[in-house]
Amino acid sequence: MSTADIPEGTVRNILEQDTLKWVFVGGKGGVGKTTCSSILSILLAQVRSSVLIISTDPAHNLSDVFQQRFTKTPTLVNGFSNLYAMEVDPNVENDDIGGNEGVDSLFSELSNAIPGIDEAMSFAEMLKLVQTMGYSCIVFDTAPTGHTLRLLQLPSTLEKGLQKVMSLKSKFGGLISQMTRLFGLDDEFGEEAILGRLESMKDVIEKVNKQFKDPDLTTFVCVCIPEFLSLYETERLVQELAKVEIDTHNVIINQVLYDEEDVESKLLKARMRMQKKYLDQFYMLYDDFNITKLPLLPREVTGVESLKAFSRNFISPYQPSTSRGTVEDVERRISTLKLQLEDTEAELDRHRKGKQKAGHTRGRVEGAKVGGSASFDLMFQG
Ligand SMILES: Nc1ncnc2c1ncn2[C@@H]1O[C@H](COP(=O)(O)OP(=O)(O)OP(=O)(O)O)[C@@H](O)[C@H]1O
Ligand SMILES: [Mg+2]
Repeated sequence: MSTADIPEGTVRNILEQDTLKWVFVGGKGGVGKTTCSSILSILLAQVRSSVLIISTDPAHNLSDVFQQRFTKTPTLVNGFSNLYAMEVDPNVENDDIGGNEGVDSLFSELSNAIPGIDEAMSFAEMLKLVQTMGYSCIVFDTAPTGHTLRLLQLPSTLEKGLQKVMSLKSKFGGLISQMTRLFGLDDEFGEEAILGRLESMKDVIEKVNKQFKDPDLTTFVCVCIPEFLSLYETERLVQELAKVEIDTHNVIINQVLYDEEDVESKLLKARMRMQKKYLDQFYMLYDDFNITKLPLLPREVTGVESLKAFSRNFISPYQPSTSRGTVEDVERRISTLKLQLEDTEAELDRHRKGKQKAGHTRGRVEGAKVGGSASFDLMFQG
């Protein structure tokens, strides 16, 4: 099956699904997760009452993309009335969200005993907070795949952690009362308080987890590029999402090279052929997904204006500027090629003259000649 046989996809299905509350955007490092999640949040803000974009990547770059500083509290994005952004670090316990210093210290002790529980707790705290804020849709710009999958497996981590604490209750009891004395706390911050807090976290996590598993409320958008490693990682991601029962039916293939009228480079054409192979595989593997292709731009996508301009390709398929075929176009191409030919002949002429003058610097002149013929090749292919 070739890519030409399949209707082009967009992300309109996400914009039209007005029950959606949580939209995760994930994929391999550097493929365009932050760019795509930012644009999705801008598009969602046009159709929803209020949208929050959260970066859970410890190496945040929402601030770079929107060219505005964000913190762990939602901030209105400049130029919008209903789009907010925040950057949270899931690796660091948020000690300023509804806690007590002593209890938090005990928690950090606990977290040494149960790996991953601190991350689970701070993610849960953050979700609990966000839940109460009443945004109509929340977009997550996630960290590269491995990290994201870990976050999505948190409910079971927490549940296991809780079971472990319960089973070690007597052991922990001793440790906790020792710690309590050490921190000079009374009983209300002791064992019962800690178990109580774990229980309430488990409730939040379970509630959120139920929402995450509901395809009416939650979807995961996979971002990738048409290359082997990205295809491989997307497949791994899709399989893992199926395991944790999170809906996914959108793939965004970023950085696609199109055969534009002014593409003459051999290298680009070779890359295009390579991309075509992987594009075909994406379409074959994900024939029941909405696949959106985005062009590779000659520049970065930063600032609200660039994001808005690029967002066009999310709602209607990108049209490359290949108007080849009409007589006018062919004539225009011929005149461009003639000009290039004249330039290159002049360059060749200069090299020839140089060669006559400096017979002893033969090596360098030969090099220049090779360069000249290479540019002829580049000009006449395609
Ligand atoms: N289609 C594109 N054309 C040109 N540049 C792009 C395109 N998409 C993204 N970029 C640029 O590529 C860089 C990486 O994109 P982005 O930050 O969105 O990726 P990421 O997946 O979030 O990366 P990381 O894994 O580091 O978080 C940015 O500088 C961005 O402006
Ligand atoms: Mg990013």
